[in-house]
Amino acid sequence: MAETINQWSVITIVISGLVLLLGVYFIKRGNREAHMRAMLTASALATIFLVLYLTRLGLGYEKKYVGPNHGAYIALLISHIILAAANLPLALLALWNAWKGLQAAGNLGNIDSPAARPYFAKHRAWVRWTVPVWIYVAVTGWIIYLLLGKYGEVIKGA
Ligand code: HEM
Repeated sequence: MAETINQWSVITIVISGLVLLLGVYFIKRGNREAHMRAMLTASALATIFLVLYLTRLGLGYEKKYVGPNHGAYIALLISHIILAAANLPLALLALWNAWKGLQAAGNLGNIDSPAARPYFAKHRAWVRWTVPVWIYVAVTGWIIYLLLGKYGEVIKGA
């Protein structure tokens, strides 16, 4: 049960990273509507990931790394945890500024209006951090999952 939840949490965070890249591709091509849909989908997937992850923690399922290069693994794990925690406020800021900007603009064709501009300027400034952090978290989450599949020992909640 806990292992299945673990698998699904990795699947959702990896797909959310892929949909995020799709959202970046759409906005680079000027397709705001598709960008908005992709980013809302990526955010929904990341929310599902968070629920699954917290459920797994609640079930007390944990694996210990027993493979080579323990120091490198710990460095990877710590960087992953810190950036995963940072990703939540970064994503909320991106969504908040986009939402406020859209409200001020009225529609996505009007984002250059003086009322909306400051929000989208902030949106653009913050997403410079949000996108790379999100991708790093998704990729390292997947790597950690693969490493624990090969070199992990269940220490709790088997
Ligand atoms: C966490 C979710 C989101 C992320 C990570 C994100 C990311 C991005 C990125 C990378 C850009 C391009 C910035 C640049 O090239 O300078 C951008 C621009 C933009 N985003 Fe988002 N976005 C998100 C959610 C949304 C939502 C929900 C909307 C719609 C309400 C939206 C509307 C826009 C618009 C209109 C632009 C173009 C701004 C401009 O040209 O000034 N974004 N976003």
